[in-house]
Amino acid sequence: MHHFTDRDGVLHAEGVPLTAIAETVGTPCYVYSTATLTRHHRVFTEVFADLGARLCYAMKANGNRAVLRLLTDLGAGVDVVSGGELALALAAGAPAERIVFSGVGKSEGELEAALRAGVHQINVESEPELDALDAVARRLGVRAPIAIRVNPDVDAATHAKITTGRAENKFGIEWTSARRVFRRATTLEGIAVKGIALHIGSQILDLAPFEAAFGKVRDLVALLRADGVPVERLDLGGGLGVSYLDDHDVPPSPAAYAEIVRRTVGDLDCALTIEPGRALVGNAGVLLSRILYRKVGITRTFLIVDAAMNDLIRPAMYEAHHAVHPVIAPPPGTDTMPMDVVGPVCESADTFARDRSLPVSLGAGDLVAFMTAGAYCAVMAGQYNGRPLVPEVLVDGERFHVVRRRPSLAEMAALEDLPPWMEER
Ligand code: LLP
Repeated sequence: MHHFTDRDGVLHAEGVPLTAIAETVGTPCYVYSTATLTRHHRVFTEVFADLGARLCYAMKANGNRAVLRLLTDLGAGVDVVSGGELALALAAGAPAERIVFSGVGKSEGELEAALRAGVHQINVESEPELDALDAVARRLGVRAPIAIRVNPDVDAATHAKITTGRAENKFGIEWTSARRVFRRATTLEGIAVKGIALHIGSQILDLAPFEAAFGKVRDLVALLRADGVPVERLDLGGGLGVSYLDDHDVPPSPAAYAEIVRRTVGDLDCALTIEPGRALVGNAGVLLSRILYRKVGITRTFLIVDAAMNDLIRPAMYEAHHAVHPVIAPPPGTDTMPMDVVGPVCESADTFARDRSLPVSLGAGDLVAFMTAGAYCAVMAGQYNGRPLVPEVLVDGERFHVVRRRPSLAEMAALEDLPPWMEER
């Protein structure tokens, strides 16, 4: 469910026509919906209420300050994966005691920043990291509250580039070493073992991998407790998918997902954390873009739009599907034909859609929205081909605001410097 709907033939974000945003802000730009974000947060909170689960939004999905503020004001905590995200989350007003620090390669500086801030939990992913954290904590005279991220070796049946819970993935402590590492962790002076963390992948559309992984964690809890290791907390990660293609990828409901959690680990007397990213923000955003040219090639028709792979890289990187929605609905009865939707970047991979069935009337000047672009889109943008980062707009009812502006070319250039032996011109 989201709040991007056609009203009188014009695609709106809540009460705002996207045509109005395109005129004021220019294209391309991302547009997010407050009502959608709020709704998704409420749904997750409601289905997990009886389990008392702590929701730590995985801000890697969308780190915009206004999005973070909105979710943390609703009560969410934040899952961060770098010192940068930690600083940004704190700056957005997230209380440190609601922050979980995940990530496979945290530097000593980042670990120190997290301890100084007083985060709720640091998820340790390797023995060398455990030792590094122990040393940093002892130097600061504190004990680091940790969960150890285990790798349950479960196939999440998702795109190979976003699966994380297989033995061959770089994430977590391998299953066979988990008991030994937990036991060792309890002997370290700078470490306070709180529990187990896992995250098996993203855009997961089937509950079976979650059930398998949580079931394995349940067994591990029993073994660890028998070993005398305290397991007070379980951090179950994120991963629940969203629908990019209406009738095709149908994700399980948050309620069904919560039911799996309840059934597998609900009775272990552990404080639970979930780290959804995409499921909260994915369909709360669109990328708004204008068609520059319609180019009729020998074998195909191209719509060349002003957004490109640097703005939204998921199709190029994961062959991801994003629905292309004309902002002004074509007259009823308009035929469709297969077209390729491409950006201006000098790469063949700069293709948003191939052979997509679109209204024949679409052409230069028309606006289109790439749907389900709230997660892993603006955050993964770059400046390839000298293209400034895309602005982001937040809509709330009838109002909207640019929550990240487009940098000027002068600002982009100002980060660069010539060495002294080159002459300024
Ligand atoms: N927790 C941890 C430790 C994670 O690594 C991730 C995502 C999440 C939570 C949130 O997962 P979610 O609920 O969003 O599935 N760029 C890719 C997705 C990468 C996900 C990385 N980790 C994409 O565009 O599909």
